[in-house]
Amino acid sequence: MPDKKIKLALFASGTGSNVARIVDYFRQSSRVECSLIVCNKQGAGVLQIAEKEGIDTVLLDKETFFRGDAYTGFLQEAGIDWIILAGFLWKIPPALIRAWPEHIINIHPALLPAYGGKGMYGRHVHEAVLQNGEKESGITIHLVDEQYDHGRTLFQARCPVEPGDTPETLAKRVQALEHTHFPRVIEELVS
Ligand code: GRF
Repeated sequence: MPDKKIKLALFASGTGSNVARIVDYFRQSSRVECSLIVCNKQGAGVLQIAEKEGIDTVLLDKETFFRGDAYTGFLQEAGIDWIILAGFLWKIPPALIRAWPEHIINIHPALLPAYGGKGMYGRHVHEAVLQNGEKESGITIHLVDEQYDHGRTLFQARCPVEPGDTPETLAKRVQALEHTHFPRVIEELVS
């Protein structure tokens, strides 16, 4: 009997370019399976990716999500081993963190602990990096705890901030790092 596959739930709120990369990376894997895509936003691009890939989705209801452990049982019944936040914008409730201790990871488009915390997402991050005249930025992959962008860092990669960068050009460079590293770091961690 082969070992049971490790099941990932991919949480995302937006376009889902990281989700697309992760799904693609594990497509042929005999060890890891992308079982579920969890989204909090109707019409988000990531839902189209889920449909195209034939992956089950959950569209979260806000009140239910923040009411204690409402989705915990569902995710446990689905056999989810790891929760991967790939551009998921809601704070993870404590009950979910307790149910997957050290098994929830997030990717952040900057070098934490700098440029993290509430309100630091997407374009806001890159704007702040540019405003402060930073010479480099990058990505951080970290465990999730009860504070925004706070849990233990698992991996960082860096890129230069170039003269003349706009939030868009910097975002592109950072996103390239995410796409290169995130699936591989997930694999190393969960295997
Ligand atoms: C990424 O930059 C990630 O670091 C952040 O949200 C963005 C998601 O982008 N947490 P996408 O939806 O994967 O394209």
